[in-house]
Amino acid sequence: MQNLQSKNSQIKAVIGTQWGDEGKGKVVDLLSDNFDIVARYQGGPNAGHTVKFDGKTFILHHIPTGILRPDISCVLGNGMVINVESLMEEIEQLSDKSIDVFSRLFISENAHIIMPYHIQLDCASEACDDGSVEVIGTTGRGIGPAYADKARRTGIRMGDLLNFNILEKKVRSNVLYTNKILETVYSKKPCDADEILSLLERHSRLIKKNIINTQQYFYNSVKQGKKILLEGAQGTHLDIDFGTYPFVTSSNTTIGGASTGLGIGPKLIGDVIGIMKAYTTRVGNGPFPTELTGEIGEKIREIGSEFGATTGRPRRCGWWDGVAGKISAQLNNIDYLAITKLDVLDSFKSIKLCVGYKINGEIVQYLPSDPDVVDRIEPVYEEMEGWNTELREIREYDKLPVQAKKYLERIEEFTEVEILMVSVGPRRSETIWKKDLT
Ligand code: GDP
Ligand code: IMO
Ligand code: MG
Repeated sequence: MQNLQSKNSQIKAVIGTQWGDEGKGKVVDLLSDNFDIVARYQGGPNAGHTVKFDGKTFILHHIPTGILRPDISCVLGNGMVINVESLMEEIEQLSDKSIDVFSRLFISENAHIIMPYHIQLDCASEACDDGSVEVIGTTGRGIGPAYADKARRTGIRMGDLLNFNILEKKVRSNVLYTNKILETVYSKKPCDADEILSLLERHSRLIKKNIINTQQYFYNSVKQGKKILLEGAQGTHLDIDFGTYPFVTSSNTTIGGASTGLGIGPKLIGDVIGIMKAYTTRVGNGPFPTELTGEIGEKIREIGSEFGATTGRPRRCGWWDGVAGKISAQLNNIDYLAITKLDVLDSFKSIKLCVGYKINGEIVQYLPSDPDVVDRIEPVYEEMEGWNTELREIREYDKLPVQAKKYLERIEEFTEVEILMVSVGPRRSETIWKKDLT
């Protein structure tokens, strides 16, 4: 088993390097065995992190995957947006599977609450077909409107659940404001402040004691030498600043978000582990230079079961995009890569890797921000022979077929990042550790 103790053994981060769904859940679950605390720092229930073991499947939306291991404490950081009702459902589902959450979950008082009207606004905006808004293909979980209220400084935070007078005042004024938009802009039914207040009151009774000042919690935990794993959600190219804007989520999914989303100084974050699928997927709208819309894309989707863990939508599939991978390595200072779902490519005669974007005859190594230019990208491919061998039973790197090793070595060479592990199936055991970091 791996023994991660390199640059800074106390705090490590896991980041998605593509457009989400890279297999972060599986990798965090494997790594978390070595940590005391696992923390989420951004996003909310738009995430769907899948973990499979002992014949059971768990899909986590708010709660860090660390909860599946006993004795690990889990944190929902200030950078997150939380739907209290669906968080309670998630806790209940875990309890049904004998996983105790309440004694090990800490929620930042500064994390923002996703209100029912945020979901209404998200869905109403996505349903617009009159050209007044860009349709993003969101998860419909109210993420954008909740972060918009945070930036507008009208958001309601988890800490507000501890003071009902303040909560009531804020809910009433927000409902007054939002109803004007729902009714006049979207011709929708207004929402009811009393209903929202009674829902929040009901849930806050159960969750109150889990709401804390997480900045102090982390400060003290670091001092005590606790080991902390930071679990990213979504992926680098969905980052609100560096992603394929406007087709992004509304938070900083990149490494800087880990620092601001938890209140942990950047100097304290040691190794950054980038999770990278052996090919590329994207769910929702937006640029995807290596997308395969024909038979090959369909084959990847089928073998890889590429359907959203949160919404069930079919994921768009394509070849491995080295340019997107390289940018991610640079942006996040990635120290190691975890390559996932290599087994999905087992039956391909030949496999392509994108090593550049051709735009107007010129080959570039970055994603342009002008959407018209992005639309004109022609991926530059290298083609490699496939391995045509089942990888699922392989546990040692040296036992991989030579073609698979060549493919992985090209990924390392192109991204300039070493591979830490290779995943060859969804289960914990279906993993090849390439490095033993001590
Ligand atoms: P996340 O959002 O990054 O945690 O990824 P998701 O859970 O949304 O999607 C990854 C899917 O691939 C899940 O269904 C995992 O169980 C599955 N998975 C993870 N690693 C592997 C792998 O190496 N091979 C295969 N075949 N499936 C994998
Ligand atoms: P995990 O953590 C893949 C995508 C949505 C949409 C865009 C904005 O499981 O990797 P949002 O609801 O956030 O406003 O939607 O971002 N998206 C994801 N795609 N995996 C995710 O999470 C995603 N979370 C959001 O499909 O394109
Ligand atoms: Mg997912």
